[in-house]
Amino acid sequence: MDQFIIEGARPLRGSVRVSGSKNAALPILIATLLTDDPCVIDNVPVLLRDIRTTLRLLESLGKKVELRGNSVRVTSKGSLKTQAPYDLVKQMRASVLAAGPLLARFGLVRVPIPGGCAIGLRPIDIHLQGFADMGARRIADHGDIILSAPALKPRRLRFTFPSVGATENLMMAACAVSGLTVIQNAACEPEIEDLGRFLNRLGAHVSGAGTPVVKIRGTLRLKGCRHCVIPDRIEAGTFLLAAAATRGNLRLLGAEGRHLGALIDKMRSGGALIKAIAGGLQISMTGRPRAVAVDTAPYPGFPTDLQAPWMSWMCSAQGRSRVKETVFENRFLHSAELARMGAQIGVGGNNAIITGVAQLHGAPIMASDIRAGAGLLIAALAAHGRTVLQRVYHIDRGYERVEFKLRRVGARIRRVKR
Ligand code: EPZ
Repeated sequence: MDQFIIEGARPLRGSVRVSGSKNAALPILIATLLTDDPCVIDNVPVLLRDIRTTLRLLESLGKKVELRGNSVRVTSKGSLKTQAPYDLVKQMRASVLAAGPLLARFGLVRVPIPGGCAIGLRPIDIHLQGFADMGARRIADHGDIILSAPALKPRRLRFTFPSVGATENLMMAACAVSGLTVIQNAACEPEIEDLGRFLNRLGAHVSGAGTPVVKIRGTLRLKGCRHCVIPDRIEAGTFLLAAAATRGNLRLLGAEGRHLGALIDKMRSGGALIKAIAGGLQISMTGRPRAVAVDTAPYPGFPTDLQAPWMSWMCSAQGRSRVKETVFENRFLHSAELARMGAQIGVGGNNAIITGVAQLHGAPIMASDIRAGAGLLIAALAAHGRTVLQRVYHIDRGYERVEFKLRRVGARIRRVKR
């Protein structure tokens, strides 16, 4: 249970390189289950805990995984297993994405039902309905779900909500099914677009990935390929907000501005100066932000994954702002920790009202999930005095070498191993 000790109120200045996207790399690595040929995935944030868990998942299913720098080579070493271990699924819900490729290829898969987590119940009913619509039979057995379908059928699917995971799971399954599958009301996140590019390189015919209607013409034989993962928009957005909260000036190398439209618009309304530079983005901020309201929403709306980091910036706004969380039902756990630092936040249902204060102060605080942890880290960097941030393992799931990146741009942060 490592801790971060942070001495705050130091502006971040300099350059930070953005890592490859965790949430794009996860499904792409899992999609290598669709082929027996070798695949090489570049720009993978290999130091992240969730990526390590994914590589262990692939190995437990029978793949061989080799790392070289931030490239991952995935090869086959015999037949694949069709059962994902609970031990890994409980560490990382995205393990459930193995269901699509395995069911489509082998006609059978057994996956533990991932439980809820700190941010909400997170059911997988949309995934399961999609598989059922494609002809899978489902049996519940001791906390696992067994899905069987001698041959999935191509179908026209309509999701009740644009779930990121369900879109990825069904896209992967459809790639190994001959014929045309159409997903309507699909999620539009850039990570889905990247998965679509990878699946096309494997030899599937995917069009519309990144729009609400994705069309997949699958084939029974997919081949290997090489693919480079997109930059992590959530890491980039977290650094933009950290720079703004510390009233700094930061260049984000590799950041993709077009994936961050909703955040950049809101940050500009708050008073941040953000511009595109060669190969990235630059931000500068002086003084307290103006109070700006945000509602989280599926892409291209304001990302729920940046809600906690955003709230930390708004804690020092001039005036009163509102955050409405529409994607997850329980994603305000960070607000009680921010209150320990002097923030004034009232939470009612899925709304938080933040009354800006002139200055946060350091305090002992605790992360409850990846992005809550990132939000608290930003608050600590902005606050006067010392913060001890506990449960850093949550942050390590989603931010590579975060303390090294922050120290290089002027933060006083150190990790204490416990
Ligand atoms: C992905 O989770 C991301 N994870 C999340 O990032 C992100 O917060 C989320 O998308 C929304 O953008 C990965 O990509 C690995 P959803 P996912 O299915 O796929 C409900 C992070 O911090 N829902 O779009 O699980 C669900 O409960 C993580 O990096 C159903 O009701 O998100 C939630 O309220 C956290 N039934 C909403 O939809 C279903 O079958 C969005 O979930 C599926 C989802």
